Amino acid sequence: MAQAVAAESGLADVAAVVAAIAGAAIDISEVIGRGALAGDLAATGEQNSDGDVQKALDVIAHQRVTEALQAAPVAEVASEEAEDVMRLNPGAPLAVAIDPLDGSSNIGVNMAVGTIFGIRPAAPGATGHESFTTPGTAQLAAGFVTYGPATALVLTLGEGTQIFVLDRSERAFRLTHPSLDVPVSAKEYAINASNARHWDTPIRSFVEDCLRGTEGPRDKDFNMRWLGSLVADAQRVLMRGGVFLYPGDNRKGYAQGRLRLLYEAAPIAMLMEQAGAGATDGERRILDIEATGIHERVPLVFGSQEEVACVAKYFGGRN
Ligand code: AHG
Ligand code: MN
Ligand code: MN
Ligand code: MN
Repeated sequence: MAQAVAAESGLADVAAVVAAIAGAAIDISEVIGRGALAGDLAATGEQNSDGDVQKALDVIAHQRVTEALQAAPVAEVASEEAEDVMRLNPGAPLAVAIDPLDGSSNIGVNMAVGTIFGIRPAAPGATGHESFTTPGTAQLAAGFVTYGPATALVLTLGEGTQIFVLDRSERAFRLTHPSLDVPVSAKEYAINASNARHWDTPIRSFVEDCLRGTEGPRDKDFNMRWLGSLVADAQRVLMRGGVFLYPGDNRKGYAQGRLRLLYEAAPIAMLMEQAGAGATDGERRILDIEATGIHERVPLVFGSQEEVACVAKYFGGRN
């Protein structure tokens, strides 16, 4: 009985954190929805610890979500927009990894952006990164908000992946997709093809053989979509299948690609697996990888199982 109550209270704490992020997301959605009337949301400022130039909306979103998490059962936060772990409520049970505003290059041109989060148990008395060096399987919940034509919360509590859409008249999210099931086979791929000149052989062979089917083993022809916003590409893959790739490449600083393990790859990986899809670094399951730093990058491949498996075949051939 005690374990059940503890489990219940644990879920209550997770629910409180999701509610806090959802509340902040409604405010962020309203700022974004005003576009240029809200001022220059794309105005650039400092560089963040991952080397990205911070835009006004990055900072607004970071401040709003941090404020919301301060009032929730959260001990620590690892945010893209903060150099180190932020200590909020000592002794609280949960730790949150968050990308307050994903797809920043889309700010100011009215394209979809988002907020990504992963919730895991806080390591008691943590003074360093202990709460965030557990593998992604330690996540109790994960989700993202897509600020698109509709504002959608895509969420998993470990029992499947759901979508909730914001009812603006009530300022409340309503369940629209109770259990997503990603098609096993893809018809679309998402990759920044302008980086082709920087790819190493396995990814080039995969794109040429597996996707473009030039002399590939599979007679499928694919269409391509690249939205420059991880959450938008991820929501499309969750809803109609596909495969997304951000591999490492030969540019300086991109050996591990561009996406960050803790607050981009790991939450997306939990959502994908809970919807019957796959998520790897090309070879290894993302959820098995332990972060060594809170802004650590990782190559990311996710989506329809057939294509994710095909990538592994090519990467496997690399060594
Ligand atoms: P962020 O804006 O949080 O830094 O993330 C941007 C990411 C991701 O959203 C997107 O898939 C990717 O950057 C696009 O990268 P390229 O500009 O290299 O295509
Ligand atoms: Mn950024
Ligand atoms: Mn991002
Ligand atoms: Mn970001």
